[in-house]
Amino acid sequence: MTSPAGSIHRCSPTRGLVAALGSQARRSVVPVAIEAEGIGRYPRDVESAVYFSCLEALQNVGKYAAASRATVRLTGGDGRLWFEVSDDGVGFEADQTFFGTGLQGIADRIAAVGGKVHVHSIPGAGTSVKGELPVAEASAPDP
Ligand SMILES: Nc1ncnc2c1ncn2[C@@H]1O[C@H](COP(=O)(O)OP(=O)(O)O)[C@@H](O)[C@H]1O
Ligand SMILES: [Mg+2]
Repeated sequence: MTSPAGSIHRCSPTRGLVAALGSQARRSVVPVAIEAEGIGRYPRDVESAVYFSCLEALQNVGKYAAASRATVRLTGGDGRLWFEVSDDGVGFEADQTFFGTGLQGIADRIAAVGGKVHVHSIPGAGTSVKGELPVAEASAPDP
């Protein structure tokens, strides 16, 4: 499976979120597992926002976490879509760390499609970036 040059932060409408994130995960230095349940196709702005958010979060894992592994979990159902990017790295003091452009960008992109983001991190115990969005399902989930 290949991803066209320059496709980073864009989600091609011909491929779903799981395939698009899988291609990027395979390029990551930190091993990334993708877990998906009940994920189908969604409106383009929703897929783009989730794709962008997961890539930003994975970029932080590569830059700061010193993690041995990361997981991207996508779950769909009941008109909602959840994503979570977690790692087992160094974590950070969430109270004392200002959102930079990455985490703020995730929050803004997800808010723009009506969702919410929660960042949970404990020094020494890893980081998790979770988002929840309302979605209109465009097609049935992949089997
Ligand atoms: N997965 C992570 N592991 C450890 N620290 C993180 C992680 N994600 C974010 N951080 C911390 O949160 C800060 C803010 O991240 P971000 O908003 O993406 O801004 P930036 O990457 O531009 O610094 C980072 O500088 C880093 O200190
Ligand atoms: Mg960042």
